[in-house]
Amino acid sequence: MNMFVLLCVAACALGAHALRVGVGISDVTGPPAEIGFMGYAQLEQTGHGIHLRQFSRAFVFEDGVENKTTRLVYVSVDAAMMGHGVRKEVIKRLQKRYGDMYNEHNVIISGTHTHSTPGGFLMDFLFDLSILGFVKETYAAYIIGIYKSIVIAHTKLTDARVVFGEAELLDANINRSPTSYLRNPPEERAKYKYDVDKTLSQVRFITPEDKVLGVINWFAVHPTSMNNTNHLISSDNVGYASILMEKALNGNATLPGKGTIVCAFASTNLGDVSPNTRGPHCEFSGKVCDQEKLLCKRPKERCFASGPGRDMFDSTRIIATKMFQTAMKVLNEPGEDLTGPIGIVHQYVKMPDQVVSPYDPVTETFNASAKVRGCLPAMGYSFAAGTTDGPGAFDFKQGTTTSNPLWNAVRDFIAEPTQDDVDCQAPKPILLATGRARFPYEWQPKIVSCSVARLGGLFLAAVPGEFTTMSGRRLRNIISKTAPEAKKVVIAGLSNIYSDYVATFEEYQAQRYEAASTIYGPHTLEIYLNKYVELTNALVSSCAVESGPEPPDLSHQLISLVPPVLWDSAHWGHEFGDCLQQPQKHYSYGDVVTANFVSGHPRNSIRHNRWYAVVERLESEEDDAWTVVATDADWETKFIWIRDSKVMGTSHVEIEWEIPVGTPKGTYRIHHFGNYKYVLGGIYPYHGFTDSFQVS
Ligand SMILES: *[C@@H]1O[C@H](CO)[C@@H](O)[C@H](O)[C@H]1NC(C)=O
Ligand SMILES: *[C@@H]1O[C@H](CO)[C@@H](O)[C@H](O)[C@H]1NC(C)=O
Ligand SMILES: *[C@@H]1O[C@H](CO)[C@@H](O)[C@H](O)[C@H]1NC(C)=O
Repeated sequence: MNMFVLLCVAACALGAHALRVGVGISDVTGPPAEIGFMGYAQLEQTGHGIHLRQFSRAFVFEDGVENKTTRLVYVSVDAAMMGHGVRKEVIKRLQKRYGDMYNEHNVIISGTHTHSTPGGFLMDFLFDLSILGFVKETYAAYIIGIYKSIVIAHTKLTDARVVFGEAELLDANINRSPTSYLRNPPEERAKYKYDVDKTLSQVRFITPEDKVLGVINWFAVHPTSMNNTNHLISSDNVGYASILMEKALNGNATLPGKGTIVCAFASTNLGDVSPNTRGPHCEFSGKVCDQEKLLCKRPKERCFASGPGRDMFDSTRIIATKMFQTAMKVLNEPGEDLTGPIGIVHQYVKMPDQVVSPYDPVTETFNASAKVRGCLPAMGYSFAAGTTDGPGAFDFKQGTTTSNPLWNAVRDFIAEPTQDDVDCQAPKPILLATGRARFPYEWQPKIVSCSVARLGGLFLAAVPGEFTTMSGRRLRNIISKTAPEAKKVVIAGLSNIYSDYVATFEEYQAQRYEAASTIYGPHTLEIYLNKYVELTNALVSSCAVESGPEPPDLSHQLISLVPPVLWDSAHWGHEFGDCLQQPQKHYSYGDVVTANFVSGHPRNSIRHNRWYAVVERLESEEDDAWTVVATDADWETKFIWIRDSKVMGTSHVEIEWEIPVGTPKGTYRIHHFGNYKYVLGGIYPYHGFTDSFQVS
């Protein structure tokens, strides 16, 4: 009997389960200018506007049997990952409103893992390093947006059933560390056709009137179609797939984030999975690079992957469209009703303290007579080299001075790994002994969040990191084996707390990027396998589990080098919102309309659901009535902020609209909204629009 299992109640009678589901969506876009993006860890990759806004998509579930109700929240948010601080604040706000209905044990928040959104919200020092520290504006934007989406879902609870479907989607993902994958035992690999998962899994929630309330899709792929040269906020391939599906189900004229039907494309075991299907090539020669070492012949020539499109926007569109079309196909098939109770168990786990039985992937059994252990967090050397989706991400080594002032300030304080760390992490050569670093505060988490939820026959393993393909397969298999009532098992990736990658023991030996970033050592996955068996057992036998040690609260010691907005001023002889460059008078489909405006700094106001830029069509000349046909969250628009003079505080925005096929003929204009910071203090709104133009 496990010591963490405290209390078991008799499994519920097989009474009728009255499932209710609510869905909600809210704008969660982070500060759109001058804040570093989270993902590629490139100091230079800061935001300068918006291509696709970020949304939080929330699903609230309630199961009522007799007088007992169970609740569960699942959120997929267009962010790089989720962090403990944001989740805790979201729950705090929910509790203010609803009491203990929502708590740390029944709320799963999963990041889609887009690499083109503002960072600085994670708190752990290493993760905010390339953002120049903690960014309160990002933190607040994510808390408010996620909270709102859950509140909307809460208020819309209605009777529904859960229908599951799946389909194969080929040519939309590849393995970016194929040589590591090959380290897994041949007997195990023989069970699978591909070195990445090709299945798109979907649950849809259907009302008694057979209407779709919402859809969650899981397809394993990194949202790294937009590469590390991008400076526009983007929800990337999965975010655009969501927008496409929501438009298809709510009506094409529905603005992003405004439809009642909510469709998430959420993260799963995407650790070693890239959308860049042309594979890695050398930057200049175009030749396929040395797979093992990511080397090209010429010095300084980088090796990176791209494709399938002509540029990163085109690649994003292609991958998104494939996922969207596959999801629509699944939606239109009968599917499988996954009836049964809902439930969740959750535990905080201190990874370095874990001692577990090793796992044999060939026999799929644990060896109870042997023991392996977790290590203090540490990053290996390959981590500094990056991946083929973003080469040379962290170009520092111990002791070297870099262009990152925050790194330069702390590098002398990096702790030396002890002999025990070295032994524990072997064969990983330790670059950063993050688990020992105390200055300025915790660098990487030691305590993670683990949970298993069930929606009838669908079991959801929410994991605090990026599981590689094979790690994910092992976890799914072991849960299926543990719980025969688990008809389908899906991994909810990058949930609640971020603790980097989880490679298999065999992949770990190769020490490529994913393994170098498997921070608790070679047996990290085995610890999780043991833990999720324990949690699954508790879930199906209705046993309570101990909540585990609470992760530390870092919110009082955070440092930030991100400067605030000082002031704005309009260009000489102009006012904020003045149009500096008017569009032409006439356009047709496929043309790109461009307009420039005198602007304030977009960080002055986050403008959730209120847009910085919209395209309007004239409905009635007499009443001067205009309707919004596209916003800065739409694919067809780009909102680009350009600083003209830091000293003067002047800046302008460029707004682009690529006129989609099918746009009705008529009179249009572009409207810009913003806020400026007055030099003597205070923030004031302004707006301005272009002259009208014709689309024919
Ligand atoms: C919505 O747009 C798609 C793609 O442009 C098109 O195929 C579809 O027919 C449109 N649906 C409606 C109801 O207009
Ligand atoms: C990023 O994509 C652009 C095309 O959109 C390409 O020119 C550039 O080389 C790519 N860079 C990297 C590092 O992938
Ligand atoms: C289990 O572990 C023990 C102790 O390390 C070892 O002697 C034994 O061979 C292992 N059993 C299997 C089936 O691998």
